[in-house]
Amino acid sequence: MMREKIRLAITNAIREQYGDIAMPDFSVAPPENPAHGDYATNAAMALGKVARKNPMEIAEQIRSDIAGSDWIEKVEIAPPGFINFFLSERALQDALADLVARPDAWGKSDIGKGRTVMVEYFQLNIAKRPHIGHIRSAIIGDALKRMFLSQGYHAVSDTHVGDWGTQFGILLLGYKEAGASLHLKEIAKDPFVELEEIYLAENERIKHDPARRELAKQEFVKLEQGDVENHKIWQWMVMVSMKNLQQSAARLGLLPFDEHRGESFYEDKMAPIVEAALQRGIAEKTDDGAVIVDLTSEGLDEAVLIKSDGASTYLLRDLATIRYRKEHWDFWKNLYVVDVRQSHHFKQVFRVAELLGFEGVGESRHIEYGFMSLPTGAISTRAGNVISLESVLDESGERAQKVIAEKNPDLADAAAVARKIGKGALKYFDLSHHRRSDIVFQWDAALSFEGNSGPYLQYAHARLKSILRKVQSSTFESRASGRGKSKVEMKDVGMDSLEHRIAAAVLRFPETIEDALADFTPNTLANYLYNLAKLANEFYHSHPVMQEQDGAKKQFRAWFVAAVAATLANGLSLLGIESPEEM
Ligand code: ARG
Repeated sequence: MMREKIRLAITNAIREQYGDIAMPDFSVAPPENPAHGDYATNAAMALGKVARKNPMEIAEQIRSDIAGSDWIEKVEIAPPGFINFFLSERALQDALADLVARPDAWGKSDIGKGRTVMVEYFQLNIAKRPHIGHIRSAIIGDALKRMFLSQGYHAVSDTHVGDWGTQFGILLLGYKEAGASLHLKEIAKDPFVELEEIYLAENERIKHDPARRELAKQEFVKLEQGDVENHKIWQWMVMVSMKNLQQSAARLGLLPFDEHRGESFYEDKMAPIVEAALQRGIAEKTDDGAVIVDLTSEGLDEAVLIKSDGASTYLLRDLATIRYRKEHWDFWKNLYVVDVRQSHHFKQVFRVAELLGFEGVGESRHIEYGFMSLPTGAISTRAGNVISLESVLDESGERAQKVIAEKNPDLADAAAVARKIGKGALKYFDLSHHRRSDIVFQWDAALSFEGNSGPYLQYAHARLKSILRKVQSSTFESRASGRGKSKVEMKDVGMDSLEHRIAAAVLRFPETIEDALADFTPNTLANYLYNLAKLANEFYHSHPVMQEQDGAKKQFRAWFVAAVAATLANGLSLLGIESPEEM
């Protein structure tokens, strides 16, 4: 990585001048204005404070130490002590040549080797239809898993399916009420229709007859105590719902999950935790028989482990989960991609786990995200219903198909391309926003071929690929196909300033992945790709490849196009977005 190289050079220069002075924190990043160089650092200012010296003087020392290197074109200093680095053409071309020789490896590393990252996302609830609220978790979680895998981490995904809890009491009671009219297998066609109806109808009954709430609670308690009939009904609900979960995951194009440990999995792992908490005085029994951890003095309210009716809580299951994951996977990080409404819940979980002395709490993080909603009327649903995940996917495919029919009616395999565009548009819309922001999904913006959208990036890539196809089929012998065995020698072809900017931008790809992973923010990568696509379009319009008469220049440009195309395709793939060759 270029950034690392510069960082190291700065550190060495400082060591040379100042011996083992405490190295201050400093940044190395591209300056806002590209005219100020490819990278800039505040190292001299940071050191100025520690060493009590004029930053301009320090900057000058660093500059003179580094300036001679062959990978640097020049180093400039700007008050009050910024140092700006301009990479040499040689350095840019060498790095690009490596990239073009092995495009598939571009962006990958093994930095994470030997480290296990748990990523939990797409936590569907059994017996409830997946809805628009589950989409962001799926898309963000899947992108994080892909990025971690690309850096050599052992990424383990888990859905933590919601298959336990008092809502099953309601379902069981309702199921029994529907009684003779229902048979476990017969309603399996669209089980969600039935299950939804059972759930809604029972809730309706409870509203009018509050005594039924107690009955529902008892049904769940019976389930927890191993009642055979209840267990059988529950199992059936899990089975049909899981089938649907797999289908939705496949339609979204998610990587396969490594685990589907539902909340029920932790049933027998909870009692020892409650015991330990009571024994060590962390938890207390209330008068009505509940078990709570009082966190009010820390502003975190009471954390309930066991309810007064004896039922375990969602929170207790999460405590058992942390412990299991640490023991079973010995994770380096444990990530929960869950919407922001649950941040209080996770604060409680982490705090109680800490009090209990669990390992792995410090490495556990709630990766919170904001809401995604649709403008009203964007999808028609049955009144009062949430928008289902399926209907969003259907809609995006249909809309993409219309766009393709309009833009490129002769496209071969239009249906398959439309699916890629539809899914890509949805994912990109989500991932281009910071995960914490609330977003209103706009079909037109998401599916537009212009602006910061999935199709815009896919289209930029497809255009570059079309140039490469033309170059390859012409008499011109291209080594830019990515299969070139030898390094392409480009010594005599100078770069203009746009080419320099694009090359430097391409080389920031690995650093961008690193940054995106540091804060678990896929939008860092999405927005980098958008800027690269914009540069690529500028290049496309001002630097013709096929028409170029100068053979060396033509080859150089083709080679350049290959580098940018590989970066866009690899980057999109890390976001879970496919790049059609044509569109
Ligand atoms: N199924 C839960 C819900 O719908 C989300 C699960 C989040 N993950 C966790 N480990 N608590 O609210």
